[in-house]
Amino acid sequence: MNFAVIGLGSFGVKRAKAINDSKNANLKCLFDLNDQNAKKASKDLGAPVKSYEEILKDETINTVCICTPNKFHKKIILDSLNEGKNVFCEKPYVRNVEEAKEILEVTKNSKGVLQLASNHRFFESVMYARKLVEEGTIGKVLSFNGRIGHNGERLKDSWFWKKDISGGGTLLDNGCHLLDLSRLFVGNFISGKGLISNVYWKNIEVEDTASGIFKTEDDRTATIYCSWRLLSGYFFFEINGTDGYINVDGRFDTHGGDKIFWSNIKEKKVFSKDFSHIKPNSYLLEIDNFISNVKNKKKISPSAKDGLEIMKMIEFIYSS
Ligand SMILES: NC(=O)c1ccc[n+]([C@@H]2O[C@H](COP(=O)([O-])OP(=O)(O)OC[C@H]3O[C@@H](n4cnc5c(N)ncnc54)[C@H](O)[C@@H]3O)[C@@H](O)[C@H]2O)c1
Repeated sequence: MNFAVIGLGSFGVKRAKAINDSKNANLKCLFDLNDQNAKKASKDLGAPVKSYEEILKDETINTVCICTPNKFHKKIILDSLNEGKNVFCEKPYVRNVEEAKEILEVTKNSKGVLQLASNHRFFESVMYARKLVEEGTIGKVLSFNGRIGHNGERLKDSWFWKKDISGGGTLLDNGCHLLDLSRLFVGNFISGKGLISNVYWKNIEVEDTASGIFKTEDDRTATIYCSWRLLSGYFFFEINGTDGYINVDGRFDTHGGDKIFWSNIKEKKVFSKDFSHIKPNSYLLEIDNFISNVKNKKKISPSAKDGLEIMKMIEFIYSS
């Protein structure tokens, strides 16, 4: 699969490296509005810089990976899909429900496929939790409770703080990882409530803290807490089932998720596994998953429909 990466800041470079590392992908070219960022990435990654228009018209490029600030995702997604290209777009793929609906409509008739990024699904501990759930180790999943955060320093005074560009604060930045995982483990949520606040960062247009609670049609629940000021971030969640529980403890941002603990009523013992020795590889695993989904016409996940449901959960919190 031949990729162009658009947006070569912190995450564009990570995604482009993963594309370079994949046996199934070619990094054909790069584009960034900032020439310096584009040229530096081109030198480091060994791929040429092309203009936005050249990328859209180039028929040898069948896939666009979008890593710009959130405000620009919608236009690049629509332009790329309209040119028949596949799209892999960073989270949160849009800023609000309206944008998500518009994109969903276009994907219904597009030749190209849209998959949304959710690299936390590819942390070792999260993949192991999915395996345990699929094997029935904890019975039917009843609830998901998650917490995510980092210290927020990297984002200080950046576009992440500007509502028009980001669409929101910590909720869209890291909260959306938990929202995606809660849907993955529990299912679709039909109602929710929440609270946002600014406990640490001041003179900022968006929230630095958010909490949400959600309910499925059959009364199962999820709660999430996300923050731009957790000094010992990064990522915890617990899944409770009819027969047991799973705890993922990813405290040190290793992308392995560090540790997982689980127990069930049959074995009456707490099991654990430590993944902290595994080198972070979620970006490579995710890009290969995307390529395999497109090539083998498998179900896309997270899809534009999933993205819309996540945006609705975000709206439940903002409108509370
Ligand atoms: N998966 C994750 O865990 C994760 C973590 C952080 C950020 N992200 C997402 O990645 C995206 C980029 O975030 P970042 O931290 O890399 O931001 P960044 O500010 O470091 O980089 C953004 C880059 O996009 C370029 N750019 C801006 N507008 C553009 C446009 N219209 N066309 C082309 N290039 C443009 C900028 O010049 C810059 O080089 C965001 O959507 C963000 O939410 C994902």
